[in-house]
Amino acid sequence: MPDNDANEDVVSRMRRLQSERRAGNGSIMAGVLSAYITTPRDKILEAELDGLIDSFLLAQEATDASLSRQVGRLREGRALSVTGQSGAGKTRTLERHFLKREEFTGYGDQNANCILVSVSTPSPCTLRLLGQEVLAALGYETTRKLEENVVWDMVQHQLALRQVRFLHIDELQHVLQTRNPIEIGKVQDTLKRLMQNKLWPVWLILSGLPEIGRFFADDEQVWRRSRHVVFEDLTLEKDATLIRRLITSYGQEKAKLAITDVVGDPVIARLLHAALGRFGIVIEFIQDAIREALMGGADSLQVEHFAAVYSARTGCLPEGNVFTAVGDWDLIKPREGLVRDELNNGEDCAQPSKHRGDKPGRSSHPRDRRNP
Ligand SMILES: Nc1ncnc2c1ncn2[C@@H]1O[C@H](COP(=O)(O)OP(=O)(O)OP(=O)(O)O)[C@@H](O)[C@H]1O
Ligand SMILES: [Mg+2]
Repeated sequence: MPDNDANEDVVSRMRRLQSERRAGNGSIMAGVLSAYITTPRDKILEAELDGLIDSFLLAQEATDASLSRQVGRLREGRALSVTGQSGAGKTRTLERHFLKREEFTGYGDQNANCILVSVSTPSPCTLRLLGQEVLAALGYETTRKLEENVVWDMVQHQLALRQVRFLHIDELQHVLQTRNPIEIGKVQDTLKRLMQNKLWPVWLILSGLPEIGRFFADDEQVWRRSRHVVFEDLTLEKDATLIRRLITSYGQEKAKLAITDVVGDPVIARLLHAALGRFGIVIEFIQDAIREALMGGADSLQVEHFAAVYSARTGCLPEGNVFTAVGDWDLIKPREGLVRDELNNGEDCAQPSKHRGDKPGRSSHPRDRRNP
């Protein structure tokens, strides 16, 4: 048999097996993965977005009434920062609110004339690359390598042309990670100029890791016009009820699994530790544990399902699994699962750790990453 045919056979067999697997659990998992859980911080964010929009409308009234002299800075844009650790849920939450709000109708559709546009900061980031990202998001693609001042002149022009008033920049920490004070200063000045532009001021929504909360801290003019929403890490003391609600909502309501064995404080404490206290990572653990349970044909969610997810995400040794370890499980460092594994194997210490940043294997399916 020619090689090609053999390959096709293998792939089609994989497809058949995949669809057989998915036929049963696929629709349940689709429901589990797509469900959005509302928490008190949605209310806080909503109120801050209300405030940002109010300040824009106030500026519009000032402009319409030609009161620019009297109102001075009222016409300048404002900034809202949304910060939290990786996996806290910033991107998903903001996207949810942008899609839901009527003011931002058409969000995400380049042809819909939405007044809000989102970009993700490139990494590594320079002022020029960030500008090109904004241009692309505005639907202006160019293959030419433009000078940074030209790029940003074009950004200003395109924002006005496309009637965009709100600019959301995600992952802004990539600017700070350049550790180049000149480049950082240039981005700060440029964003400030966007907000202060006389003809077409822009309102900014900046999201990223906690350090970007200080992005404009040294600039009093902008700092005074900024507001902040912080997505705090979860703790057992204040958030056990919320986590129980997450397990109930995903496990019991969406996946129809019994959850009695995993809603007690001892399991929730381990789940919080395994997920580094990050709201979004807790959710991903629950979703992945549900997938484990469904794949194994279980009718209840068990600690062993969470343990399997943890093992796949961290590559830990069995005795280092936060969910099953006896003794000081709270001293285990979830982010060091793979590193410890490599150290224990002796010679392999020089190999880079496979885990990304500070996310314990976020967003990859546990089965894809399981050690043999
Ligand atoms: N309210 C929510 N309901 C359901 N799932 C959520 C919710 N908030 C976050 N998630 C999920 O949690 C995970 C992490 O969220 P997200 O990617 O938004 O985090 P982040 O704070 O932007 O992280 P990073 O800084 O790494 O970009 C995602 O899988 C996301 O779908
Ligand atoms: Mg994000």
